[in-house]
Amino acid sequence: PSLGSLLVSGLTRLGVPSGILEPLSKLISSGESYPKIPEAKGAISAIRSEAFFIPLYELFLTYGGIFRLTFGPKSFLIVSDPNIAKHILKDNSKAYSKGILAEILEFVMGTGLIPADGEVWRVRRRVIVPALHLKYVAAMIGLFGEATDRLCKKLDDAAYNGEDVEMESLFSRLTLDIIGKSVFNYDFDSLTKDNGIVEAVYTVLREAEDRSVSPIPTWEIPIWKDISPRQKKVNEALKLINTTLDDLIAICKRMVDEEDVQFNEEYMNENDPSILHFLLASGDNVSSKQLRDDLMTMLIAGHETTAAVLTWTFYLLSEEPDIMSKLQNEVDAVLGDRFPTMEDMKKLKYTTRVINESLRLYPQPPVLIRRSIEDDVLDKYPIKRGEDLFISVWNLHRSPTHWVDADKFNPERWPLDGPNPNETNQNFSYLPFGGGPRKCVGDMFASFEAIVAVSMLVRRFNFQMALGAPPVKMTTGATIHTTEGLNMTVTRRMKPPIVPTLGTQNLGSIPEADPVVT
Ligand code: HEM
Repeated sequence: PSLGSLLVSGLTRLGVPSGILEPLSKLISSGESYPKIPEAKGAISAIRSEAFFIPLYELFLTYGGIFRLTFGPKSFLIVSDPNIAKHILKDNSKAYSKGILAEILEFVMGTGLIPADGEVWRVRRRVIVPALHLKYVAAMIGLFGEATDRLCKKLDDAAYNGEDVEMESLFSRLTLDIIGKSVFNYDFDSLTKDNGIVEAVYTVLREAEDRSVSPIPTWEIPIWKDISPRQKKVNEALKLINTTLDDLIAICKRMVDEEDVQFNEEYMNENDPSILHFLLASGDNVSSKQLRDDLMTMLIAGHETTAAVLTWTFYLLSEEPDIMSKLQNEVDAVLGDRFPTMEDMKKLKYTTRVINESLRLYPQPPVLIRRSIEDDVLDKYPIKRGEDLFISVWNLHRSPTHWVDADKFNPERWPLDGPNPNETNQNFSYLPFGGGPRKCVGDMFASFEAIVAVSMLVRRFNFQMALGAPPVKMTTGATIHTTEGLNMTVTRRMKPPIVPTLGTQNLGSIPEADPVVT
């Protein structure tokens, strides 16, 4: 504490009235010099480069765990220190909102769970989290398997015809099919065909990503926003998605009305186990606009993230044949040609470590966005309300002070018999699903989805970068994309028998709660 604050607290104890103390305290604090957050200078042009989190890494190595980045009148605080990240996300999370993120995503997610703040967020989070209960996630494992099997069939054809495949877009379609069915019981069927609704979803997604990296908000310019062909297309896409969602909500409401609902915390309709069905059956008393916003949020949150995880996992595996063989050995031993079940999630330990490590090297999203809504102190630096902050998960996950060979893909760094790494047991040096009250609600769902997809694919195929494929580089949207796709040559593994059979899923005897990620 400074001399000034010691003097004020001493006088308080002596009983000096607050009418005298307050002006005195103000006078003293105006003359006090607080430590100032280091300011990164001359880096503005670098930040405009493709994947903006890369120059932020260089700046982190120079300026440390918190620094300020200024663009003209705007400035951002970049956080790469685990203790400060923990303070913002967990210990003092009430002092932060989603800030710019909420502004950018408003057009598509409205007040859905990701952008929502305050009371809306509190109420919706309490309603939505129970919908992703263990029995629901266990039931989804069968769906993950069926969808991955459809992707396998596609790859079978490509392997047979000797055609290379662009895996990033296939993963995006796989996870879109899965999330549509699991969140609102809709079959996009995007792995098999293109249709208007699939195109509309991609139009809206691309727009959200472009807005999140665009320096000028052209979509806010009056008149332009109504006549620009691009904005017109976005508005039409949004309209189509909204009508589709409204129809799905209406269909589901009718199903619930006709059902003799015995609602309990593990409620699930066997014919329609979707999150939407759970919410309606729970008597969730919500406006249809809010319900639509939440469904849309989950569609987006659960789609591109998992697709990106699969893309970067297969990229990393293609670079490390020894890790791929070890992974294939585990899958051969545990699964053979069965579809994975809930019981297998615990047994596929190395597969899980491969995904943990892929999430460390390529966190999705690479930065978390917040705005201070109260004054606060970060480390030794006081900050005012209204500061925009980026917590760089990329920097935390690759910090040379926290990781040995930080840039190396090394699943062995996590012992197989050790706990599953998460933000709590890694003290916020590793936060693939965020942390604190706004942690991802789909962490277990997404982890199992990735385990099922990876295990089934590597069991059936070998994957190599296609001959002559452009080098894989990164570009940023909300998640990390490749600049020119992940072009791979897929070959059938010479491992008979090859056709999988549906594993028996005994929903009545689910193993004790031991989720991969907690
Ligand atoms: C929030 C990552 C899959 C739904 C988050 C956050 C992260 C994250 C880092 C915290 C954001 C922040 O603090 O600003 C991921 C990754 C996924 C994934 C890496 C895939 C591997 C899913 C899935 C769903 C989902 C499948 C839905 C079924 C959400 C929602 C939130 C969220 C609703 C907002 C929670 C809140 O603010 O209360 N996710 N997620 N995510 N995620 Fe995920």
